[in-house]
Amino acid sequence: MVVENMVALAPYNTFGILSKAHRLARVGSVAQVQALCAQHDLARAAPFVLGGGSNIVLTGDVHALVIKVEIPGISLVGQTDRHWLVQVGAGENWSAFVDHCLAQGWLGLENLAFIPGTCGGAPVQNIGAYGVELQDRLHEVDAVDLASGQPFTLSNGQCAFGYRDSIFKHPGGNGRLGLAGRALITHVRFALPKRWRAELSYLDLQKKVTETGLTQPSASQVRDWVVAIRRAKLPDPAVIGNVGSFFKNPTVSAEQCADIIGRDPKVVHYPMPDGSFKLAAAWLIDACGWKGKSMGQAAVHDRQALVLVNRGHGSTSATGGEVMTLARAIQTSVYERFGIRLEPEPVVVGHGA
Ligand code: EPU
Repeated sequence: MVVENMVALAPYNTFGILSKAHRLARVGSVAQVQALCAQHDLARAAPFVLGGGSNIVLTGDVHALVIKVEIPGISLVGQTDRHWLVQVGAGENWSAFVDHCLAQGWLGLENLAFIPGTCGGAPVQNIGAYGVELQDRLHEVDAVDLASGQPFTLSNGQCAFGYRDSIFKHPGGNGRLGLAGRALITHVRFALPKRWRAELSYLDLQKKVTETGLTQPSASQVRDWVVAIRRAKLPDPAVIGNVGSFFKNPTVSAEQCADIIGRDPKVVHYPMPDGSFKLAAAWLIDACGWKGKSMGQAAVHDRQALVLVNRGHGSTSATGGEVMTLARAIQTSVYERFGIRLEPEPVVVGHGA
């Protein structure tokens, strides 16, 4: 297994932040992951597993061994009366995978079209958009235990999915199960419904239905709408560096929500099944006047206040430090005005990693 030294990570993170991996290994199969485990004591020094780099902020060079997952393959591996079971290698590009599934007639992932990143990264943060979360379609995840080299499989329930959260995002300890740095996802299997129905509950999609009069759109039509909505709001990482939403939408109690509405009647809020309310972090940040503001080369996107962007690239790139300084300034002003602590969505990777 070849380990490359001092590898530039700018092409491997969608923020385009300059940083180096002191050591980087590429793995294209389960056997290669196991060979790497046999060569390195990964139980003692946890590696950093890199997928598409679309949900990380690099704040310095990475000292840990970086494992870049490049496992390929998409195949139909089974079916039940109600579902197609589709397996994908962790290194496949998510957006291309969604389009491939649609072309094959395996429907149900169209609301998640055009999300940057790899298929192996998708379960880590339980990607979600326009009324569908990955957990609604995921069947099983195959992974390798990096300490022992043993492969294992987790069911949907065992992944402990939450809003932008899973067992793969947590290091474990303090009574909480976690697999961050301990497991490498190799394959993901999806159960895609044979009897498909469009999921159109999200307001932006309802608007498309009204605009076009298409009350029963095809899955490809929904995919095209989602792509158009994303293009209109979200910056393309190939053009301007970003990691999508930078903060999670916070959840507050009914009392807290009523209190905020009392002070700011326009606050965007959604009732949750458990009686709490989800607030639109984008609205809170926007209300604090951050849209379009910058600190150094890091800036708040001018069309979606929840997205931080890198205004530079190459030698003029924002640093991870600039991004985090801007993020902290936003957190402070939202806290001072609304009493709400915004939680970052991407994984922040520091020198210690
Ligand atoms: N809004 C503002 N100002 C803005 C932008 C939005 O006031 O600058 C308001 C909008 O009017 C809207 C509300 O905020 O009422 C919500 O905005 P939007 O529909 O764009 O969704 P979001 O909550 O900001 C979430 C996800 C996105 C996902 C979209 C669509 C999170 C953290 N973000 O964004 O996911 O694409 O919904 O489902 O949950 C990502 O995770 O990287 C991501 C892009």
